[in-house]
Amino acid sequence: MSTHIDDRSAAQRNKGPIFAALKPWLADAAEVLEVGAGDATHARHAVECMPGVRWQTSEAPAHHRRLVAAITDAADIGLPAPLALDVRGEWPDRSFDAVYGANVAHIMDWAAVQALFAGAAAHLTDRGVLCLYGPFLIADEAPAAGNAAFDAALRARDAGMGLREVGALDDLADAQELSRVADIPMPSDNRLLIWSSTPLRSTIG
Ligand SMILES: C[S@@+](CC[C@H](N)C(=O)[O-])C[C@H]1O[C@@H](n2cnc3c(N)ncnc32)[C@H](O)[C@@H]1O
Repeated sequence: MSTHIDDRSAAQRNKGPIFAALKPWLADAAEVLEVGAGDATHARHAVECMPGVRWQTSEAPAHHRRLVAAITDAADIGLPAPLALDVRGEWPDRSFDAVYGANVAHIMDWAAVQALFAGAAAHLTDRGVLCLYGPFLIADEAPAAGNAAFDAALRARDAGMGLREVGALDDLADAQELSRVADIPMPSDNRLLIWSSTPLRSTIG
């Protein structure tokens, strides 16, 4: 698994392409919840390029202090105070136009991934979107060498971790009445996957 330092440099590298692809999907969004926000690199970028969006960061309780320390200037840059949120626990008692997570699905165990989809579905507004960025697998397709090695390293470290198959995530989404509306290829064999609470929403990208 990446170290926090690696996560930070990767997040600096990937924030531009991610938000270029994500922005059209958040054009009408007022409230976004980011899960597993890490050191808030993406959140800082989000408020710069989408100043009208209230970007609510969150982290699992064990890493919440690190997130808080990374954005001691939160109020100055327009970020709400970060929430301590384990996706398997209680979610905030409000709705969001989008739930966003970068590089979280392969770190969370499968029960947490299930909870992420259930929690997102329960807290998305009409026409809300669940957006996940990261490396994923496609059934019956050989993964890129880097993704295969990363998957093996994750599983060796913790059997609960590992790259997720897009089809398996679609099944979780279906069970929560979310429909996938985009699968956007991103640099370095990553993808941006988007599911909507409204099946009729047209596909962008
Ligand atoms: C690889 S880091 C990604 C950090 C950041 N999003 C990025 O792209 O740089 C994965 C994150 O998922 C979070 N995470 C793991 N399990 C979680 C859970 N059950 N609920 C919420 N967050 C979780 C971890 O705390 C960690 O910050």
